[in-house]
Amino acid sequence: MTKAKLQAVILAAGKGTRMKSARAKVLHEVQGVPLLEHVVRTVESLQPDPLTVVVGHQGDTVESAFSGRGLGFVRQDPPLGTGHALLAARERYAAHPDRTLLVVNGDVPLLRHETLAALVLAHQRAGAAATLLSAVLEDPDAYGRVLRDGGAVRAIVEARDASAEELKVREINAGIYVFEVPPLLEVLGELRPQNAQGELYLTDVVRLLRARGLSVAALEAPDPGEALGVNTGAELAEAARLLRRRRNEAVMASGASLQDPDTIHIGLDVTVEPDATILPFTILEGKTVVAAGARVGPYARLVDTQVGVDAQILDHCLLRQCVVEAGASVGPFAHIRPESRIGPRAKVGNFVELKKTHLGEGSKAPHLSYIGDATVGPAVNIGAGTITCNYDGTAKHPTRIEAGAFIGSDTTLVAPVTVGAGAYVGAGSAITEDVPAGALALGRARQVIKEGWADARKKATAGAPAAHGRKT
Ligand code: UD1
Ligand code: CA
Repeated sequence: MTKAKLQAVILAAGKGTRMKSARAKVLHEVQGVPLLEHVVRTVESLQPDPLTVVVGHQGDTVESAFSGRGLGFVRQDPPLGTGHALLAARERYAAHPDRTLLVVNGDVPLLRHETLAALVLAHQRAGAAATLLSAVLEDPDAYGRVLRDGGAVRAIVEARDASAEELKVREINAGIYVFEVPPLLEVLGELRPQNAQGELYLTDVVRLLRARGLSVAALEAPDPGEALGVNTGAELAEAARLLRRRRNEAVMASGASLQDPDTIHIGLDVTVEPDATILPFTILEGKTVVAAGARVGPYARLVDTQVGVDAQILDHCLLRQCVVEAGASVGPFAHIRPESRIGPRAKVGNFVELKKTHLGEGSKAPHLSYIGDATVGPAVNIGAGTITCNYDGTAKHPTRIEAGAFIGSDTTLVAPVTVGAGAYVGAGSAITEDVPAGALALGRARQVIKEGWADARKKATAGAPAAHGRKT
């Protein structure tokens, strides 16, 4: 069979009333991306030309969320039903009457490439005017029912308009269709809003095509879960759960290890390489990459973060837009903020916050520190409780700590300031001036010793009435 040229329309103009949300339904997120993103990617995978998206409710917001992607947008305002939506895009597909038309509801995030491709193939084999994807459900609930006479599809009836007998049908319409354009154009104009919702139903096209003696075929989805249409918050959560499971299974099949995958979230654009290990309750978002041999979690959240080969992110860490190079170790309880880079085999320990900081190869900040706007060379040791004072109330200033320097515990580095290569800073110092390479800097009050002071105090207070508060 020759590969026919395809074009497609995605219907995304509906209000999504049942979500009870101010946000357009198709912009609600699953796996860190809008519902519509899942549908667009699946439809795109069949390379339709053109690919049109019908938007209406919050059309500007939807359009800008998907701009620069080569999609054509058409407005349907107000949204008066799925048939009305397809009519709104008429000029787009009428321009290519020879191209088979895919029409997909914008709220079916579980639809897979393989199923859509199989639907197109079934359509071509049947030589039908239209072919729809159906699914047989235990509880067909509010879905439109597929009515057949003998084997052939006769009509789709919406649940609200169905008789008690029709409601017993468990084969439902998934809202995913393939049409030949000329017969579609003939019948679209005949749609009438004679139904419970007073809308133009795309589903009525089936009856109208049949009335003209044309054939309508249906392909039953191998996995009925793929037909899930998201109309409510609960359905959104169910779609998220199913997609998460599907994603985690694919990641495991590729050779990564997920411990207790039901508790792990891996975003759509995340890469987990073979032999990486993800521990329970870990969330990987955005364009995060976890390389082979790396371990992340438990209870870690990574956003747009690259974790290098054999690196580890320990319990309860948050990392955003940063890079952790090979063999480095972060956490537990570390917060790595955007534009940070942790060099090979470097170590960031517990209760350490890094912001816009580059930590050089093998350098360490093991305990309780805030390092911001800093460039730290290789083999530097940053003692417990070190703080860069990078903000003067108006502007941020940089700190440089050069190769092999040793920063004693409880140091404050008042930026802008540089500690030269191999220099030492004594514990408890407030460093306000540059420290030359190889020097020792002490920026603290000299210790004072008062011999015998305690005994003297005891004598001075003896005989005085017992005090409840402490006085010195
Ligand atoms: C629709 C089908 C139903 C099917 C179900 C599958 C119709 C009449 N009914 O019902 O048979 O079982 O999907 O999930 O088609 N939209 C517009 N403009 C509008 C109305 C809707 O673009 O005026 C878009 C929505 O944004 C949505 C899609 O079309 O992405 C489906 O609309 P929705 O209201 O969710 O249809 P259902 O009632 O679920
Ligand atoms: Ca729906």
